[in-house]
Amino acid sequence: MHALQEVLRRAQKNGVALGHFNISDFVQLKAVFTAAQKLEVPVLVGASEGEREFFGVRQIAALVRSLREQFDYPIFLNADHTHSLQGAIEAARAGFDTIVFDRSALPFEENVRQTREAVDALKAINPAILVEGEIGDIGTGSEIHEEEPHVANQLTSPVEAKQFVEATGIDVLAPAVGNMHGMLQSMVQGDTKKRLDITRIAEIKSAAQVPLTLHGGSGTDDEDLRKAIAAGINIIHINTELRVAWRHGLEEGLAKQPHQVVPYKILPFAVNAVEQVVSSRLQLFNTQPRASEARSETLLQR
Ligand code: G3H
Ligand code: ZN
Repeated sequence: MHALQEVLRRAQKNGVALGHFNISDFVQLKAVFTAAQKLEVPVLVGASEGEREFFGVRQIAALVRSLREQFDYPIFLNADHTHSLQGAIEAARAGFDTIVFDRSALPFEENVRQTREAVDALKAINPAILVEGEIGDIGTGSEIHEEEPHVANQLTSPVEAKQFVEATGIDVLAPAVGNMHGMLQSMVQGDTKKRLDITRIAEIKSAAQVPLTLHGGSGTDDEDLRKAIAAGINIIHINTELRVAWRHGLEEGLAKQPHQVVPYKILPFAVNAVEQVVSSRLQLFNTQPRASEARSETLLQR
């Protein structure tokens, strides 16, 4: 069985979720890896099409692979929100462990047809690759939004979730359950939180019977995240919170050393800021309710 598939199975059994963190540079990768390593939990890093374009598809794959091999560590790589089959194939060939094939903006039947086609093409390249499909509208852009983004009132129904999984053969499903990409300014300040439809998550899980991913995790109410995991969420995506921390860390590094030009003396501030966020999210997602001994055991049994 694929190592990531097995890690997901264990997460489900242990009532925890894998943290998925988007990265677009080595500062963020270093921060995510360090935080996971200190907590001894498996971790997923993701790169969307834009993030991959900046980093380089094969370059990010090579870096993640080097960490996995050198440290014998369960760190996995996801091609996040991939809108074209060509982009998905490029990532699969580069060695990504999983692909989010996102045609959720299309009408349901067309989304099914294209996702089915992608599953077949990607499994032909790597039979162990996991393909995630998406239905419903959760908006776009891991950024700070000036106002509430307009999302179609399209929460995923358990019936269409089951139908989508069966018709496409996807391994993982990303539903719309009250989640949304990006954060409002009030969320960055901690004044408001995203809230989730927990009952819907439980119903989708029981209908679809596959691992579920929660996108748009930044700024979500902690208690809702705990309940979402208990209801069947297995992977949680966080991006905007990392980007905010990255910027603050960088600003701090520059402000504290106004004349400094040495990158490795400035960038550790950004690494630390991102690491704090990743660490606190991983503690919420993946260290409860297990005891730390069980954590080490899971890590060793990957
Ligand atoms: O795929 C990436 C995520 O869903 C991140 O969403 O920026 O709201 O955390 P976020
Ligand atoms: Zn997403």
